[in-house]
Amino acid sequence: MKRLKLLFASSIGKKFVAAVTGLIMFGFLLGHAAGHMKIFTGAGADGVPHIDHYGQFLKDFGAPALPPMIALWGARLMLLGSVILHVVAVLMLSDQNKKARPVDYVKKKRAAASPAALYMMVTGTLILAFIVLHILHFTTGNLPMLGKHVHGEVYNNMARSFSQWWVAIPYLIMMVIIGFHLYHGVWSLFQTLGLDNPDRNALLRGFAIVFAIGVTATFCLIPLSFMFGGEPAVDNEGMNRIYEYTHDKLSSH
Ligand code: HEM
Repeated sequence: MKRLKLLFASSIGKKFVAAVTGLIMFGFLLGHAAGHMKIFTGAGADGVPHIDHYGQFLKDFGAPALPPMIALWGARLMLLGSVILHVVAVLMLSDQNKKARPVDYVKKKRAAASPAALYMMVTGTLILAFIVLHILHFTTGNLPMLGKHVHGEVYNNMARSFSQWWVAIPYLIMMVIIGFHLYHGVWSLFQTLGLDNPDRNALLRGFAIVFAIGVTATFCLIPLSFMFGGEPAVDNEGMNRIYEYTHDKLSSH
């Protein structure tokens, strides 16, 4: 705790906290996007989509050394801690930057945040709201109006939600917003690490753009494939159909 206080006391310490927690969240996003590509790999011999097995695998991770859900809860707590520390660090940094900016003493107005900082604050706040709604939607299943939720049926939960355009479109918009936040976040990370240099800035910016577009496009494939990929909206009977569909597809290869 003392070390954390010490880190937050200096400007470079706050930047370091924002960078490390940002990196942890980027890591999660990469894993989350990659894991969800299992919607395209069909189903196992039991007819259950691979993505459902993958969801179960995450819950059982660490077994038999650890009881089920322990590793998952460890990862969840680490992510939550990262989100909190990231938000506190960037808010403190933004406040500090505002105070350091020249103030118009005649009008005695409070200095405004820079456009980049403002844009990160707005997109960051939207992302926070998205995460809360997203967990209520797909993890706890508290938003049945977006599509019926059955625990463990990851594939069908997504099919039921994204076959409705009014759920898929806001998700797509949100993924683009996340892409913009990622681009600026990765670029700031390079600056915090002292990697920026006029000789290689174009390369670093290029990397940040490719990374942000790559993650956004991967996530967008999910709602798009359910919107246009011909997957039917499923009820209990349709659920069997979709299981047969993925099973047939697999055995025909
Ligand atoms: C189109 C894009 C996305 C889709 C289809 C999607 C889908 C899902 C699904 C189905 C779950 C529940 C998994 C399960 O119960 O086993 C989940 C959990 C979660 N997602 Fe996403 N996700 C997307 C994008 C994102 C993004 C961009 C973020 C972060 C900014 C995010 C953060 C989370 C978190 C924090 C959880 C809870 C993980 C847990 O506690 O188990 N997701 N997502």
